[in-house]
Amino acid sequence: MPTSKTTDQLAPTVLVIFGGAGDLTWRKLIPALFDLSRDRSLPAKFAIIAVDRIKLGDAALRRRLHEGVNQFSRFGRTTAAVWGRFAPHIHYQQGDFTQAATYTALGRQCARLEKQWGARTHRIFYMATPPSMFGEIPKYLGRAGLARDRAFTRIVIEKPIGYDLDSARALNAILAASFDESQIYRIDHYLGKETVQNILAFRFANPLFEPLWNRRYIDYVTITVAEAVGVEHRGGYYDHAGALRDMVQNHLMQLFCLIAMEPMVSFDADEIRNKKVDVLHAARPIHRDEVPQCAVRGQYGGGLAAGKKVPGYRAEAGVAPDSETETFVALKLFIDNWRWQDVPFYLRTGKRLPRQASEVSIQFRAVPHRSFPPEASLGWQSSRLVLAIQPVEGIVLGFQAKYPGPKMQLRPVDMRFGYRESFDAPSPDAYETLLWDVMKQDATLFMRADQVEAAWQLLMPVLEAWQATAPSDFPNYAAGTWGPENTQELLAPGHRWPLPTQLGPAP
Ligand code: BG6
Repeated sequence: MPTSKTTDQLAPTVLVIFGGAGDLTWRKLIPALFDLSRDRSLPAKFAIIAVDRIKLGDAALRRRLHEGVNQFSRFGRTTAAVWGRFAPHIHYQQGDFTQAATYTALGRQCARLEKQWGARTHRIFYMATPPSMFGEIPKYLGRAGLARDRAFTRIVIEKPIGYDLDSARALNAILAASFDESQIYRIDHYLGKETVQNILAFRFANPLFEPLWNRRYIDYVTITVAEAVGVEHRGGYYDHAGALRDMVQNHLMQLFCLIAMEPMVSFDADEIRNKKVDVLHAARPIHRDEVPQCAVRGQYGGGLAAGKKVPGYRAEAGVAPDSETETFVALKLFIDNWRWQDVPFYLRTGKRLPRQASEVSIQFRAVPHRSFPPEASLGWQSSRLVLAIQPVEGIVLGFQAKYPGPKMQLRPVDMRFGYRESFDAPSPDAYETLLWDVMKQDATLFMRADQVEAAWQLLMPVLEAWQATAPSDFPNYAAGTWGPENTQELLAPGHRWPLPTQLGPAP
């Protein structure tokens, strides 16, 4: 949550949004900026320049963005008066992203604002465009001299960072030709989630669990990011991406790194990012001929979602009727280091699963010796810790307790922490946190080039093996189920995919 500062404490800033008339701006960026302004967390001297190809005036753009704010702000619908205080910050500039004139005009507008404010101004260039523009905009910014001021200029880029390892390297090289790495903010919105950031707090602000956080005490780890929705209106994009590129390469890899990383020495952005990238370097490479033992792919067929019939993936808008794109991935990974040798990390994500649930489950080993008589421990379950990310936000520790009565009988019970019960502050949207961090020049929650490339490197054999062999059984899970049956085959004997935690009523 951004700490509320008075607006004067923040340096004057111009935020240029390429794709300013697009969906991301409407749905995420402007509602997050508006919510920041409600918390008085924006600079007093602040302007948003939305750049896009279509013809649009300031007034029409502001009306459109007002609708988005009404739908997506965490404060709910806003009054004309409140919106009226925020709207004048927004300006529209029509322009083609591949024309030098657009950048000359932008430079002039930034200079004009700087003159008007009488202060040196931070410039943030946000690429909220289709990925095809990611390689173009930085070049034009560089040529126009708009990337030169390292201390006062930043560029923000959304995923996908590349389509595979080679294209990610090429994109990083284009960015690096105009910008220093310290100016580049690669967004993974999972890192902006409170519960994801809390993984660091839980692990490294408490001495309790860290001594157990290793192969001696942990049997295996599962990371689940389950979605109940299908591809929604994004079939065209998704059919060229698939779950491995869309979710695993970024969001799941980030969770994997946060769970497995070594303690950081300080809260410095590069120190934390070094520790995270170390995990990817230590991850055991997957050989192409081992892919079937380490990875499972799936695609949903028709089925039920919230009790209603829903179509299969191949019948979704924008999706090829014979599509071979995966909407589900499960992986088994190992980390070859002292802490984690031979502890399996099972990762899974998919669309049209029974419910939305993102969580990490740490399954502890059984006690070395069971001293209780067998009848005392019929329902024995080894201790388990669940870090619930969404929609349930909290932590659950499952352990054994004595059932009341004259006999010694053991039963599994839970100790629970829920964000809502413990804190009265609401969780900000991830974009609020991340935009605030870009303004503060804090890159801790952003992906560095080497981390993006290391994640691709780890996953390339899976992508290549899947590309080489068409899936013979798609669709292989019905909408509303937990994915293909062979997902079970990844698990070692005695291991299981846990059912998502219920921590009070989900929203
Ligand atoms: C996006 C993916 O990055 O994350 C989407 O492109 C996915 O396909 C979304 O639905 C999930 O994000 P969240 O925050 O809803 O879990």
